[in-house]
Amino acid sequence: MNPKRYDSHNDGEETRRQLMYIDKLTTHVTALSDSLGRAPKACVVTFGCQMNARDSEKLLGVLISAGYEETDAEDKADLILYNTCSVRDNANQRVYGRLGVLKGYKKTNPDLKIILCGCMMQEETCVNKIKKSYSFVDLIFGTHNIFKFPELMCEMFEEDRMVTQIWDETDKIVEDLPVRRKYSYKSGVNIMFGCNNFCTYCIVPYVRGRERSRAPEEILCEIKNLVNNGVIEVMLLGQNVNSYGANLDAPCSFAKLLKQVEEIDGLKRIRFMTSHPKDLSDELIDVCAHSDKICRHIHLPVQTGSNRLLKAMNRVYTREHYLDLVDKIKTAMPDISITTDLIMGFPGETDEDVEDTIDLIRRVKFDNAYTFEYSKRTGTPAASMDGQLDPKVMQAHFDAVLKVVQETAREVASKHTGEIQKALIESVSDHDPSLVTGRLSNNLLVHLEGDASMIGSIIPVRLDECKGFYFLGSKCDQCLK
Ligand code: SAH
Ligand code: SF4
Ligand code: F3S
Repeated sequence: MNPKRYDSHNDGEETRRQLMYIDKLTTHVTALSDSLGRAPKACVVTFGCQMNARDSEKLLGVLISAGYEETDAEDKADLILYNTCSVRDNANQRVYGRLGVLKGYKKTNPDLKIILCGCMMQEETCVNKIKKSYSFVDLIFGTHNIFKFPELMCEMFEEDRMVTQIWDETDKIVEDLPVRRKYSYKSGVNIMFGCNNFCTYCIVPYVRGRERSRAPEEILCEIKNLVNNGVIEVMLLGQNVNSYGANLDAPCSFAKLLKQVEEIDGLKRIRFMTSHPKDLSDELIDVCAHSDKICRHIHLPVQTGSNRLLKAMNRVYTREHYLDLVDKIKTAMPDISITTDLIMGFPGETDEDVEDTIDLIRRVKFDNAYTFEYSKRTGTPAASMDGQLDPKVMQAHFDAVLKVVQETAREVASKHTGEIQKALIESVSDHDPSLVTGRLSNNLLVHLEGDASMIGSIIPVRLDECKGFYFLGSKCDQCLK
């Protein structure tokens, strides 16, 4: 089958069209400001993964350009936008629950605009349910036409009805619209969109469409601009970054892209997410091992330690392959942190499968793992598989695995006690304003004395005391160059 062609470059014409709509939107927002006697407030709430978080920065960028002020308080907002996730059913349920609350807000503030977008909106059943039971929503759009946001906002202001526009796919890449970054010193950068892997439990390929990579020169240009604007750390984002570039006109591997990113002056740290074990190449390990900028952390979701279930999940690797890969990575980079995702309760999962997973966790000694109970997603092959587990059995499997994950993570983290490592100071601690929080290259967090002026700087820190999943530390000026 020939994959459908798409353009890996930014569609400049569409960008210009949407910039024009931002101007038009500004006139609507100015009129609203005049009637309110103040700037209207917008609250953007993100569910789901880093790619959604990046999308939300773009949505907020448009709203702020048009004259909205940002707020975190939904009850004070004039516009509430939920950027949704549908990877597990509880994400969907949270949105429905919160929509019930928003209905109340709309009664006290009839001018409140409620907008839904993101992965959940690509599910027909969700959109039908919203139309039927939550008809007070003003605008719904999906993942493929997110770049149409300015145009759709104008339509929303001009029409007295719920505006809905969902596309099944897109062949366009539209970047270069305004962005409001959450952090001044770090940023996500999309290097690709969609997913082709069709793991049997996963809804992402259905809601995000086929895999499409951005042209390397555009990614590099975006990162250079970010660096010129004060960013020192980037996180390259994709559902499977290891297959980056496969369908570009001039193919470029992820490892080659990383090498070029590494050369950008002023950029200090590079992270990436997510790596699929089936596509992680020796070339990539080599590039990481020889890099000063690529962080010593790899997120490598394994999902289960059972070969039988890996096959049923269509993960296309075995536990042996995964363990070999981990060996290769640790041999090349002994100080690397490896984290993973685990699903418990996949259809047909037995006690023996759980034992295999626990055995794999003990062998790899993951620095951390995100553990999920299997969630049945309508339309995916696993949803119609035999052997769907009783929730109580699922819970027992989950608890058994989580216990081992926590034990190993504590053990692995505590080995760093006494070390001196560089930390990027990210924020003042929520709990104690005399402390700041820094992130180590291996993704561990450390709290140390400091103040807001340190945010965005990389400093040497002694890891004094391990508190399980984070450290208490102290600034150590003379220790590292
Ligand atoms: N592309 C990434 C993962 C994206 S989704 C990868 O392949 O590694 C993030 C995680 O959600 C997955 O790794 C998986 O552990 C979990 N997940 C996806 N679908 C799920 C489902 N139906 N039930 C429970 N967890 C799920
Ligand atoms: Fe989902 Fe698998 Fe694609 Fe990850 S690789 S997004 S788990 S289908
Ligand atoms: Fe969720 Fe969509 Fe990300 S389903 S995990 S927000 S790609």
